[in-house]
Amino acid sequence: MNVIVLFLLCSLSNSETCSRKPVILIPGIMSSILDIKLNISKTDEHFEKKCKKVEDWERFWASYKLASECYLEYMHLQWENKTKQMKNYDGIEIRAPDFGKTYAVDTLWPEIPWKKITGIWRKFISHLEELGYRDGVDMMAAPYDWRFSQSKVIDIWLEQTKQLLLNSYKINGKKTVLISSSMGGYMAYRLLDYLGNDFCNQYVDQWIAISMPVMGSGVAVKMITVGEDLLHLNLPIDRLLKVIRSIESVVGLLPIDTLWNKDDLLMEIESTGERYTVGNITQFIQTIPTINEFGVYVYENTLKPYYEKNNYKVPNQVPLNCIISGGIETAASMSFKKSLDSLYTINYTDGDGMVNINSLKACSMFTSNVTYIGKSSHNDILKKDECFSVVKPLICG
Ligand SMILES: *[C@@H]1O[C@H](CO)[C@@H](O)[C@H](O)[C@H]1NC(C)=O
Ligand SMILES: *[C@@H]1O[C@H](CO)[C@@H](O)[C@H](O)[C@H]1NC(C)=O
Ligand SMILES: *[C@@H]1O[C@H](CO)[C@@H](O)[C@H](O)[C@H]1NC(C)=O
Ligand SMILES: *[C@@H]1O[C@H](CO)[C@@H](O)[C@H](O)[C@H]1NC(C)=O
Ligand SMILES: *[C@@H]1O[C@H](CO)[C@@H](O)[C@H](O)[C@H]1NC(C)=O
Repeated sequence: MNVIVLFLLCSLSNSETCSRKPVILIPGIMSSILDIKLNISKTDEHFEKKCKKVEDWERFWASYKLASECYLEYMHLQWENKTKQMKNYDGIEIRAPDFGKTYAVDTLWPEIPWKKITGIWRKFISHLEELGYRDGVDMMAAPYDWRFSQSKVIDIWLEQTKQLLLNSYKINGKKTVLISSSMGGYMAYRLLDYLGNDFCNQYVDQWIAISMPVMGSGVAVKMITVGEDLLHLNLPIDRLLKVIRSIESVVGLLPIDTLWNKDDLLMEIESTGERYTVGNITQFIQTIPTINEFGVYVYENTLKPYYEKNNYKVPNQVPLNCIISGGIETAASMSFKKSLDSLYTINYTDGDGMVNINSLKACSMFTSNVTYIGKSSHNDILKKDECFSVVKPLICG
């Protein structure tokens, strides 16, 4: 039997065994491509002279552009106290490209040699393709500008994703499964709340949440206190920290005080004996430069009001399955010798490297369907066969 016949047989048997419910992939923080467009006024002196002022849409996350401090500066968000909104600097537009298709989530940097190592959903998508899924038809993605967690950009995304669900129903004649990764779980939660009961009943089949930081993460504490070069770009950490301290979604990921053990330490300063626990997290937020201007508002308004409104349950009783992993040291709290810029040690707990295990396991407050797949990091879980084998029967029906 030749290869082509074999291939045909395989695809036939796949289409027989999988009824292919349509899926929408919802990525997490830093996990989708972002494009940028510049049209900064010639007279504006905010950026260094060497920085471009005009440029048409181009990918910058991720690309070589990130090695330039200019692009790091362009990512910096500005807080508008009057409207309680985060905004780009005037003349800068940033967006996740190809909404509805999987391009923005497939691979962060779609060029050799980066393509292979930045393929966050690549393996997952290839499993879907093996089942006969087609991009933009029954396999969709809803990427967003992940720097935001409560500003207007999110409201626009909610409506856009609602339209995507409607469109999917028109094309496929079936309800759609939402599959979120990481902070994409916050977006999915907000979405189900936004859609309302009737819409969910009619258009949403179920929700699969992979690695959701249900109660937030101690890694956000590390990120806003000392920063983290997550993409290993070797950028100057002070520049990186300055940008991180303007990113709304990082603050939105701090431990949620209505759920997390209130006595757990977030930060201590040894010389002064100052201690901040989850119980006084708002005071902690106010100690961090620049975040003190917007942090408490963003923290209080990212997910908490929606959790409270829905009694800490899944909105509209949408069926949920969670998939989690562990076995990796995950930052939980920080101890500084003298001050925020002095020597420090990091206190770790078990987790997936990005989310602490208590927060991953907290999915059990939503559903009894929580599958622990063993040792895996936050990003690797999407590449694991153990993960896809939980997903497959749920989407094949
Ligand atoms: C750039 O901005 C100027 C005004 O600030 C506007 O007149 C012009 O049309 C813009 N160009 C593009 C390509 O958006
Ligand atoms: C921001 O607005 C609040 C009221 O909404 C006000 O109390 C506060 O002083 C303002 N902060 C700044 C820095 O303007
Ligand atoms: C480290 O974190 C754990 C869990 O929050 C806590 O029980 C322990 O006391 C912490 N250790 C230090 C040295 O802060
Ligand atoms: C935060 O709360 C803890 C008790 O949970 C207390 O020991 C600590 O002094 C408080 N920190 C501040 C800065 O109020
Ligand atoms: C658990 O998963 C099954 C299969 O998807 C689903 O029918 C059920 O409603 C889920 N339970 C909850 C509480 O979400």
